[in-house]
Amino acid sequence: MPEKADLLLVGFMFGAAEARLDTMFRVHRIEDFAQAHDLPAETAGKFRVVSVGMVGTGHTSRVAVNGAFLDCFPRLELLAALGVGVDYIDVEAAAARGVTVTNTPGANTEETADTAMGLLLSTVRQLPQADRFIRSGKWPSAMFPLTGTLRDKRLGILGLGNIGRAVARRAAPFGLEILYHNRNRRTDVAYTYVDTALELARAVDILMVIVPGAEDTRNLVDAEILRALGPEGVLLNCSRGTVVDEKALIAALRNKVIATAGLDAFLHEPHVPSELIAMEHVVLSPHIGSGTHHTREVMSMAVLDNLVAWNAGQALPSPV
Ligand code: 8YV
Repeated sequence: MPEKADLLLVGFMFGAAEARLDTMFRVHRIEDFAQAHDLPAETAGKFRVVSVGMVGTGHTSRVAVNGAFLDCFPRLELLAALGVGVDYIDVEAAAARGVTVTNTPGANTEETADTAMGLLLSTVRQLPQADRFIRSGKWPSAMFPLTGTLRDKRLGILGLGNIGRAVARRAAPFGLEILYHNRNRRTDVAYTYVDTALELARAVDILMVIVPGAEDTRNLVDAEILRALGPEGVLLNCSRGTVVDEKALIAALRNKVIATAGLDAFLHEPHVPSELIAMEHVVLSPHIGSGTHHTREVMSMAVLDNLVAWNAGQALPSPV
């Protein structure tokens, strides 16, 4: 038996994946990225592979895997990350150091699209509010206020990647007319393409943001786009908090520039601005797009697939 390689695991994996890791590697665990800097140089120097699991309780969009982090590991070859979004990894800095980054594309597509549809329905039909209405004993003396509807509405999907397309496939049978904007126009879909994010916001009733977090998507949804969405408009974000200008969103909700919002992603997770928490009509969820036993386990196993391949000297299944 060849000797097991040393692996540093940042955070944790789901389901059986972590136990499987232990059978393949000598696993050293840290809870957070910052702890990498506390590792003795002799220990850090052993790792040719670092795996990033779930770190903390919310997604970090801060570039935590930066040059300084990577420089802790002079022999690093592979950084195998859980999740599809790599906004917290400086992939170029990794490449410059000869480090390959892998992620888990596809593993959470359908789950996140389910969640996005749930958020859409919850926000438009005010389902969490209806639940709170019963629990607070209001029903015997009052009718729950009428809500918005999906009937005759247009859904704008900002970012028609894998998840955006999975959302569109689900939304179509609800009778929603689907429009989209994407960096590149898709040739394989029949949905209406709109040239800019601003025009898309102007053309639709519900705007679903599903673009990856990155420097070029930061604050893509700004005050102007919210104004274009209009006073009946609904904003949904199931991607990254960085994509929406959170201050502008709070102002738009407060001043009724848009009607409401459903948010599964925030700028500084797990911290949600108190202004949003105070807004009864807004629906908030703690970044649960992929948060099922099934999908987090599938994602963890997809990380493992990359580690197994690396261990065997084979081609990596999902390099970024
Ligand atoms: C994870 C995600 O919760 O895959 C992604 O990009 O946002 C989620 O599925 C996240 O990566 C964990 O931090």
